[in-house]
Amino acid sequence: MRCHHIVSSVLLILGFALNAYGAQQCRLVLPAALDEPPPTPTPTAIATTSASASTPSVTPFTAFQYGTTPIRGVNLGGWFVLEPWITPSIFENTNNTAIVDEYTFGLLQDNATALAALQQHWSTWITEDDFIAIAAAGLTHVRIPVGYWSVPTSTNGTFPPYISGAYPYLQQAVQWARAHNIHVIIDLHGAPGSQNGYDNSGQRTSSPSWALNQANIAATLETINVLAGLDVDAVELLNEVAGFLGSVWDTAVRAYWKSGYGAVRQVGGNNMQVVIGDAFEGVSAWEGFLPYGSSPNVIMDYHEYQIFSDPELARSQAEHLAFACTLLPPMQALANTTMWTITGEWSTAITDCAIWLNGRGVGARWDGTYGDGAPAFGSCDGYTGDSSTFSEDYKTFMRQYWEVQVEIGEAVQGWIYWTWKTESADEWSYQKGLEGGWIPQDPSQRLYPGLCSGNSTGS
Ligand SMILES: *[C@@H]1O[C@H](CO)[C@@H](O)[C@H](O)[C@H]1NC(C)=O
Ligand SMILES: *[C@@H]1O[C@H](CO)[C@@H](O)[C@H](O)[C@H]1NC(C)=O
Ligand SMILES: *[C@@H]1O[C@H](CO)[C@@H](O)[C@H](O)[C@H]1NC(C)=O
Ligand SMILES: *[C@@H]1O[C@H](CO)[C@@H](O)[C@H](O)[C@H]1NC(C)=O
Ligand SMILES: *[C@@H]1O[C@H](CO)[C@@H](O)[C@H](O)[C@H]1NC(C)=O
Repeated sequence: MRCHHIVSSVLLILGFALNAYGAQQCRLVLPAALDEPPPTPTPTAIATTSASASTPSVTPFTAFQYGTTPIRGVNLGGWFVLEPWITPSIFENTNNTAIVDEYTFGLLQDNATALAALQQHWSTWITEDDFIAIAAAGLTHVRIPVGYWSVPTSTNGTFPPYISGAYPYLQQAVQWARAHNIHVIIDLHGAPGSQNGYDNSGQRTSSPSWALNQANIAATLETINVLAGLDVDAVELLNEVAGFLGSVWDTAVRAYWKSGYGAVRQVGGNNMQVVIGDAFEGVSAWEGFLPYGSSPNVIMDYHEYQIFSDPELARSQAEHLAFACTLLPPMQALANTTMWTITGEWSTAITDCAIWLNGRGVGARWDGTYGDGAPAFGSCDGYTGDSSTFSEDYKTFMRQYWEVQVEIGEAVQGWIYWTWKTESADEWSYQKGLEGGWIPQDPSQRLYPGLCSGNSTGS
């Protein structure tokens, strides 16, 4: 998930400055590298599930009709890119509070210890049963974040201090998806130098350098060359590039989207979808870029969160719903003129209360523990953690918030929820939403139709 989705560059810069002193975070990745090429578990060795696998409900893999059928998807967050808030236990178990992202996970631990912990995680966090459940929930797509350090390029995938070794698990995931008729978007989520400084890029840093060094960009393209060889529908060239850092970054990302488009076409063919992002510039900044006529099969992945700044957190529940609707006209304009457009990350959270959401060791703006001196909005009790603490009113709101975001996603080419599962932040979990009823088992079901066309929620 992205940190702030504020289009105002002033606020974006403010948000980044906060991040720079260690506060702002979204999502993240893993660390360390090994001396030797990583072990290569065979798919059978890592197939930890089981009963369902032996009696598959066989659905033939069918081509997806992009642009016609809406993408209904879920992100597999926190799997191949660690994020402290998605799996706090992995960080707690290190006994080292200086381990705040996947980079420090490798840097500050014995390699064998770090690798063992990661292999345990890779083989258990998502299993074939999850793909079965995702298909049963009527979803068509998964978006799988991966860090560059997990992809075997000419260096054979060793990128110290990152711990390599995830790739066979990724290959297994692609096979499971295909077996259950789920379409895959492979999302490069962490690039050399870090493309945004968030923990979810692999490295939490106040000085991300991806765009500042041509060697980083060349290495990123090499990663794309490998990923585009996978049997997947789509490759996302890079998640959440920090276009707000200035014109060098904007220029670099625009050139990279074009080079990456060419790389995917060359390796993956004309029908592979190429997914790009708005680089926090707003979708309107991309009108006319890689347009339908000259560059078909491109998808703009726009991320929508309303929780990473005080002005956003200050919105009432009704204002959160109404704000979501204001995002539709610019998305439709891009989709009508230039490229397919989706909301590739969003959630039902309306606070930043999930533990370590803003980074390991960082508090929440909502309850005043963020550390910037701003006043609290209220207690985090009942907003995060186990859904047994959630009130009926809160769950009703989350259902409305889910529906309004699905409504805007399906008014363009679709949506992908962030994220399928979390250890302890149920308000972010699609799985828990299905269990708790604030996400319907049939994603076309509406209790609150027409939220963007003037229908009141009755709340
Ligand atoms: C751990 O990895 C680092 C970085 O690749 C390497 O320098 C170091 O020798 C490794 N240590 C062990 C014990 O393998
Ligand atoms: C963390 O501390 C616990 C309790 O002392 C210990 O059992 C565990 O092995 C330690 N973990 C690591 C990675 O050192
Ligand atoms: C990478 O691994 C392959 C196969 O093991 C080997 O042939 C090749 O020389 C390696 N490349 C590098 C740069 O180490
Ligand atoms: C985009 O096209 C749709 C369908 O033709 C139309 O309803 C909508 O008003 C258009 N929106 C914009 C912003 O161009
Ligand atoms: C408004 O909601 C009602 C039921 O709650 C539904 O029948 C109606 O179709 C909705 N209107 C629009 C424009 O979606």
